[in-house]
Amino acid sequence: MPLHVTPLHPLFAAEIHGLDLRQTPGPEVCAEIDRVMDRYGVAVLRDQAIDDDQQMAFGAALGPLEQERAVVDVHKVRLKHYNMADISNLDVDGSLLAVDDRRRMFNLGNRLWHSDSSFKPTPAKYSMLHGRVVPPDGADTEFADMRAAWDALPRAMQATLKPMVAWHSLIYSRALLGFTDYTDEERVRFAPVPQRLVRFHPGSGRHSIYLSSHIGRIDGVPTPEAMALVRDLVEHATQRAFVYAHKWRTNDLVIWDNRATMHRARAFEDTVHKRDMRRTTLTDCAPTLEQRAA
Ligand code: OGA
Ligand code: MN
Repeated sequence: MPLHVTPLHPLFAAEIHGLDLRQTPGPEVCAEIDRVMDRYGVAVLRDQAIDDDQQMAFGAALGPLEQERAVVDVHKVRLKHYNMADISNLDVDGSLLAVDDRRRMFNLGNRLWHSDSSFKPTPAKYSMLHGRVVPPDGADTEFADMRAAWDALPRAMQATLKPMVAWHSLIYSRALLGFTDYTDEERVRFAPVPQRLVRFHPGSGRHSIYLSSHIGRIDGVPTPEAMALVRDLVEHATQRAFVYAHKWRTNDLVIWDNRATMHRARAFEDTVHKRDMRRTTLTDCAPTLEQRAA
């Protein structure tokens, strides 16, 4: 039975109604969710009063979960599932992170437009972010439709971009905000990885621009020229017509397809109000260079 879906934006993003994720959906419902994701790229499920175990079980039902954490101070873990990402402003004891805490500085990188785990050899497929504690103002998450952005590019630009390979690293994105404070171990763990700049999206047969603030260079292009190009493309791809801004309510679960969208966190008073969000993330099938060419 098809899911009841209502669009949230003229181009992409939809709300899925009628599911209660306290019970893990079976394969037929998961296949329906995949169909909605292939069409819309972002799905919102309201009023999901799930706990960590239920969120993990839902993620695992949709596909293989990412196993590795991409954080600094990796030993300071608040959540019991090692591979559930802590997208909060909270310390291990649940108190607000201090203004100058290294984890807060690092997490501010989420305010830049990005695609999750584009800095990993095999990047992320879906991310599923659940709002446990939502602050009173701000803190929207914005999504940009990278398939619409691709479709709107001039033909000549599409042809130029298609063969390009970009290198992605957490070190590049954090450097944009002036964060350079890594241990030797983190520098090794965050070494750049190559990804196609243009992707073929198998579930829709469409193409997307695979942009992320994690990009720091492009093969065969002088770096200042490459980065000027990336800036122009990000500006193009994030024009308001291509953006859906999600206003969080407690117990929203938002799923996005990192192969077809970018996203960013918006500002809020994060040293005053708590924001507790938890993310489960599906891994893609292979490095993008091993996937079908665009
Ligand atoms: C993420 C992310 C944005 C936000 O969870 O991957 O970038 O608004 N979140 O917290
Ligand atoms: Mn993210």
